[in-house]
Amino acid sequence: MPKVSRLFLLFAVLAMGLAACGGSDTPAAAPTTAPTTAPTEEVAPTEVPTEEVVPTEDVTEEATQEVSVEEVVGDPAIGQELFNEFRAEVNFACATCHYPDKEEQLVGPGMLGLGERAATRVEGLSATEYLRNSILHPSDYVVENFPDLLMPQVYADLFTEEQINNLIAYLKTL
Ligand code: HEC
Repeated sequence: MPKVSRLFLLFAVLAMGLAACGGSDTPAAAPTTAPTTAPTEEVAPTEVPTEEVVPTEDVTEEATQEVSVEEVVGDPAIGQELFNEFRAEVNFACATCHYPDKEEQLVGPGMLGLGERAATRVEGLSATEYLRNSILHPSDYVVENFPDLLMPQVYADLFTEEQINNLIAYLKTL
């Protein structure tokens, strides 16, 4: 009986030893090489995209600028002043011909609600685009029941781009 148990013990120790050897060898080798090489390899690709982020940001900024030009970053308060300012070149202020706070006709159409109406005037033109065009090229779209060429055609020469944007920003608040 003691012989058997000793043999068994030997077996057990051997088995454990083998298991320990095999067990420790395999898991130790696998994780050590795998994670070490894997992250190291990944470092390179990570650095490349990080560098590429720079041009991506540039593109985003450009896009944002385009949008802001499109959306018009004008000052409505300055636009209101321009709207009411007498211009000797045309002998009128905008306000001479347009009520800012009514829809009724003065000489030209009233501007009340124009901020919303503008987007529906010409298919394919946003409110901003329509308003810009109405000031710079009034004959492109003549408001129904109003005569063409009554609105002065010279505002493209009188106003700077910034002033036009301010006027548009103001008209959109009406
Ligand atoms: C002499 C009168 C007169 C003056 C001054 C005038 N307009 Fe007009 N405007 C008109 C008339 C008339 C129309 C309608 C006929 C047309 O569409 O051209 C009109 C149309 C418009 C429209 C389109 C309105 C709509 O309901 O779609 C806008 C916007 C506009 N004017 C802005 C301005 C601004 C801004 C100024 C000043 C910088 C100005 N107008 C000065 C007579 C005038």
